[in-house]
Amino acid sequence: MKKKQAQLIKQSWKRIEPMAQEAGEEFYRKLFNSEPLIRHMFKTDIASQALKLTTTLAYVVENIDRLSSLRPQIRQLGQRHIDYGAQPEHYQVVCECMLKVLSDGMKEEWIPELAEAWSDLLHWISDNMQQTFE
Ligand code: HEM
Repeated sequence: MKKKQAQLIKQSWKRIEPMAQEAGEEFYRKLFNSEPLIRHMFKTDIASQALKLTTTLAYVVENIDRLSSLRPQIRQLGQRHIDYGAQPEHYQVVCECMLKVLSDGMKEEWIPELAEAWSDLLHWISDNMQQTFE
């Protein structure tokens, strides 16, 4: 992640954070709309699930200048997702739905450089979640 990208993400998160709960719930609505077959995998109520997701994203954004130090935690998160039944193809749709929610939240401030920065970050998270332990 380049310095400029990290900066753009931090700035944009300031705008998203006050509406994070709503954005998180909107993300799950979109996700279940795109992939109805994964709905049954979620046992936790969506308000709590949305809070867990946005808290994780907030934590990553807070530590964006030292992303590599987060790798072990992100891998553990991915390891738990194996038990949840997450498949590689699900990560793609998760990233797409997250980008859509972020772009809706940012409105006219969603510029191509910001879209690319978030896309890189979400793919970094997804790739690391899918790294298996040796
Ligand atoms: C950017 C990628 C993702 C992030 C940051 C993320 C984050 C989280 C977090 C923080 C939790 C709470 C439980 C825990 O910490 O173990 C969770 C649970 C869960 N996630 Fe993800 N997730 C991601 C991708 C996915 C994908 C691709 C799937 C596939 C369908 C998925 C399905 C689930 C399920 C089924 C649960 C458990 C829900 C429950 O307990 O009812 N997640 N996720």
